[in-house]
Amino acid sequence: MTGGRHESRLVVLTGGSSGIGQAIALRLASEGARIAIADIGDTSETIEMAGVGADRISGFRCDISNSGQVRSFGKWIRSDHGDPDVLVHCAAMQFVKPFADLTIDDWRATQQVNLDGGFLLAQQFIPAMIEAKWGRIVMVASSSFFAPPAAMTHYIASKGALIGLVRGLATEVGTHGITVNAVAPGLTRTRNAVESVPQAHFDLVLSRQQLKRSGEPGDQAGVVSFLVSEDAAFITGQTLLVDGGESHV
Ligand SMILES: NC(=O)c1ccc[n+]([C@@H]2O[C@H](COP(=O)([O-])OP(=O)(O)OC[C@H]3O[C@@H](n4cnc5c(N)ncnc54)[C@H](O)[C@@H]3O)[C@@H](O)[C@H]2O)c1
Repeated sequence: MTGGRHESRLVVLTGGSSGIGQAIALRLASEGARIAIADIGDTSETIEMAGVGADRISGFRCDISNSGQVRSFGKWIRSDHGDPDVLVHCAAMQFVKPFADLTIDDWRATQQVNLDGGFLLAQQFIPAMIEAKWGRIVMVASSSFFAPPAAMTHYIASKGALIGLVRGLATEVGTHGITVNAVAPGLTRTRNAVESVPQAHFDLVLSRQQLKRSGEPGDQAGVVSFLVSEDAAFITGQTLLVDGGESHV
């Protein structure tokens, strides 16, 4: 497709092999962007679903919590595709475990993927955005920071810190024409969530929402598409809650 909203933009996306990240990949690809996905999982389903050529979407196996692997990913992108205009960090480690049972390894692994991953990716790609005097960065946080559920303290802390990263970075790079924002999804009906979250919990969350339907991955993808577009050129350092009005902030 040509003439789309994101035509000619090169997007780096973490976590594009499933769920919300997959929806973001499909949405941005349908709007003309070129997408390079970093994921520990298999990206072939997303690539096939996008239905565009290999020059428009590709995947790279990368554990984003590992600085060496992120550096290799950066080298691969620059040699095969060029310098990215947009970074969307969507990959995350998310599991339920009461605080009393959490090990330091659980805690560290969660921060390393959810927070350190965002840091490593941003450091990798911001220098070229500064040179281009244009860039868009979106970090996918979580409404759980604003309406904290039980047994997810490790995850909530990582997403709160990610919002801190967004706010600090926005201050540092705004003068270079780069915007940095967070999207905070509410409970969303991804394949993994539908398989692992009891329907009773979906019902509970729905009862607290102002909008009376459950969130779908496409709800998040549409907001990310807006934030990385020219239309959002005057928005930075913000966290957009996309949770059907569950949180009252
Ligand atoms: N689904 C929800 O209800 C919900 C709610 C709030 C926030 N979120 C956030 O939205 C984002 C997407 O969530 P989802 O539910 O679609 O998740 P998902 O589990 O379907 O997808 C997560 C992706 O991250 C990848 N990933 C995990 N660890 C990685 C690593 N170390 N390196 C590279 N890739 C890695 C996985 O392979 C997968 O593709 C996450 O940031 C999550 O915290 C989701």
